[in-house]
Amino acid sequence: IKRIRTQHLREMKERGERFTMLTAYDMYTAATFDEAGIEVLLVGDSASNNVYGNETSLPVTVDELLPLTRAVARSVTRALVVGDLPFGSYQASPEQAFHTAVRFMKEAGAHCVKLEGGREMVPQIELMAQGGIPVMAHIGFTPQSEHSLGGYRVQGRGEAAARILADAKAVEAAGAFAVVMEMVPGDVAAEVTEELTIPTIGIGAGNRCDGQVLVWQDAFGLRTGRMATFVKQYADLHGVLLDAARAYADDVRGGTFPGPEHTF
Ligand code: KIV
Ligand code: NA
Repeated sequence: IKRIRTQHLREMKERGERFTMLTAYDMYTAATFDEAGIEVLLVGDSASNNVYGNETSLPVTVDELLPLTRAVARSVTRALVVGDLPFGSYQASPEQAFHTAVRFMKEAGAHCVKLEGGREMVPQIELMAQGGIPVMAHIGFTPQSEHSLGGYRVQGRGEAAARILADAKAVEAAGAFAVVMEMVPGDVAAEVTEELTIPTIGIGAGNRCDGQVLVWQDAFGLRTGRMATFVKQYADLHGVLLDAARAYADDVRGGTFPGPEHTF
C-alpha cells in the first residue's frame, strides 16, 4: 500500500488485523513513526499539554494546531494524518465543525479529522461526511469534556455500557470512518468492536479493539511523572536526552568540545 486510506483500516478490521496509531506533532517524529509503519498519526489536541506547556487540552487553538498538522502531513509518505479538532472549534454547530475541518485539510494537509462526542455529534459528523471530510469520532472519556464528566474517570461501567454502544452506533450511522474509545472497560470495548463495521481504536480500552493509540511522549518516556495505568513505556527518551545534554555541557565546560576534528 502506498498510502493508508480510511478504507484500508476497514479492510484490516475485516481481515482481523490490528493497526496502530500514535500522536505526532512535528517533522522528525512523524517521519520516524511513518518509517516504522505506524498506520495512523494523530496531531492530537494533546499538543496542548505535550507541546505548548498547558496543563490540559482545553486551551489549545486551531491556529496553534494547524502548523503542527502541516509539519506532520509534509513529513509522511504512508501514514494517514488525522487533525484533531480542538475544544470550542466544532461543538457549536455542524457548520462550525465543517469550516474548522476544512481549515485542517486545506491549510494543513490533514487527510481527515477527529472530534470528541457520540450521539450529540451526529449532525456534525453527517455534514462533514457528506462534504467529503472523513471523520474519526472519539467516545468514552473525552478529555475536552473533563469538567462535565467530573474528571478523568472510566466511562461505560455497569449500566452506562449501553450508552457507549449507543454512541458508537450513532457515530457509525452518521458516517464516521472510525471511532476512538478512551477509558472504557475492555469487555464493553470488545462488544462495541464486534457490533460495528467501522474500526475501533482503543486507549485504555483493552486489547480487543481494532487498533490502539497512545500519546508518543507517554509511550516513549519523554514525559515523566505519573502515567495513566493504560500506558506502556517502550523507551526512556527523557533519560537519553538528559544524559546527552549533560554530556554536552560537561564537554563544553571542560573544553573537550569542540575538538580538533570539529574545528576548521
Ligand atoms: O489528543 C490526543 O492525543 C487524543 C488521543 C489520545 C486519542 O485524542
Ligand atoms: Na484529542
